[in-house]
Amino acid sequence: MSKINSTLQAAVNQQINKEIYSSYLYLAMSAYCETINFPGTAHWLRAQSQEEWEHAMRLFQHMIDRDGTIKLSAIQEPPSEFGTLKEVFQKVLEHEQTITRNIHELYELALKENDYPLQIELQWFINEQVEEEKTAGEILEQIKMIGDHKGSLIMLDRHLASR
Ligand SMILES: [Fe+2]
Ligand SMILES: [Fe+2]
Repeated sequence: MSKINSTLQAAVNQQINKEIYSSYLYLAMSAYCETINFPGTAHWLRAQSQEEWEHAMRLFQHMIDRDGTIKLSAIQEPPSEFGTLKEVFQKVLEHEQTITRNIHELYELALKENDYPLQIELQWFINEQVEEEKTAGEILEQIKMIGDHKGSLIMLDRHLASR
């Protein structure tokens, strides 16, 4: 494989930071959901946090394979409170939409720089973002349908525990 150029190295390093921040954000959301007594959702978010860490590691490995230089930077502090369960999933969906934009911008840059291996690597991420937005959107829609019905919220929380 050809060496990844310096423009793309900087952009991939930035995306690694964003994936680690995603992991950190979902971990903070998981802790918060424990405090508002939704342990199933907390479990779901902790699994989500782990997936985000794996996304960071995929890009990390790509950089290593391509002779790029990893430059880790400070991780932003996530919030510690996220409101209602509905607001939690609104924030998950919004965050995923932001990440989708980031991935698409990175892909455009890989096209511009004629970096074919990075394009292939990012195609996995493009598909993954479709899935992530779909999943977060579906859960949010279910919460909207449930409204204030506590029993149904507890059922949904139990369902999320099975992830
Ligand atoms: Fe991700
Ligand atoms: Fe994600």
